[in-house]
Amino acid sequence: MKRILRASHKTLMFTLILTTTAWAEDSRINAAYNTSIKPIFQKKCFDCHSNKPTFPWYYAVPGVKQLINHDIEEGLEEMDLSKDFPFASKENKAQAKLLKDLKEEIEKGDMPPFTYRIMHTDSKITVEEKLLISRWVDESVELLEKVH
Ligand code: HEC
Repeated sequence: MKRILRASHKTLMFTLILTTTAWAEDSRINAAYNTSIKPIFQKKCFDCHSNKPTFPWYYAVPGVKQLINHDIEEGLEEMDLSKDFPFASKENKAQAKLLKDLKEEIEKGDMPPFTYRIMHTDSKITVEEKLLISRWVDESVELLEKVH
């Protein structure tokens, strides 16, 4: 009995260490996110990927409201940035995978979507922002793959 207890104690300690390490890495990722990445996302992604969308004047145009609501619904489901890192995502997609997908979307120029960029001309991701996001994703994915 004692041996079992000791063994489970070890397992518990081990899990605790892993959890704490994972938590520490998540906080590092979040710290970097808050200073350099979040301001970009707030301006260019939050309208569809957070619970704080800013509705444009044409939201009042008949039919448009439904289109925008649909974008927000789908965008939020894929990735919810409302509570910072780790981001909520569809069926709890692994964070490393989500970050890699995010980098891909940014590199291809697929996000924000074209139709959104037409109406929000300053929402295109700039070359400097692309570099910042790519670097943050690479560093974060490395941290995540080490501990999770
Ligand atoms: C106009 C609304 C809108 C804006 C603004 C927007 N997105 Fe999206 N996003 C969507 C929708 C809708 C989807 C789901 C359909 C799709 O993948 O095209 C999506 C999907 C995604 C996905 C998941 C893709 C995948 O393959 O898993 C990522 C990552 C993403 N967006 C990142 C971003 C980032 C980063 C920004 C800001 C630079 C951004 N989006 C801005 C609407 C938006």
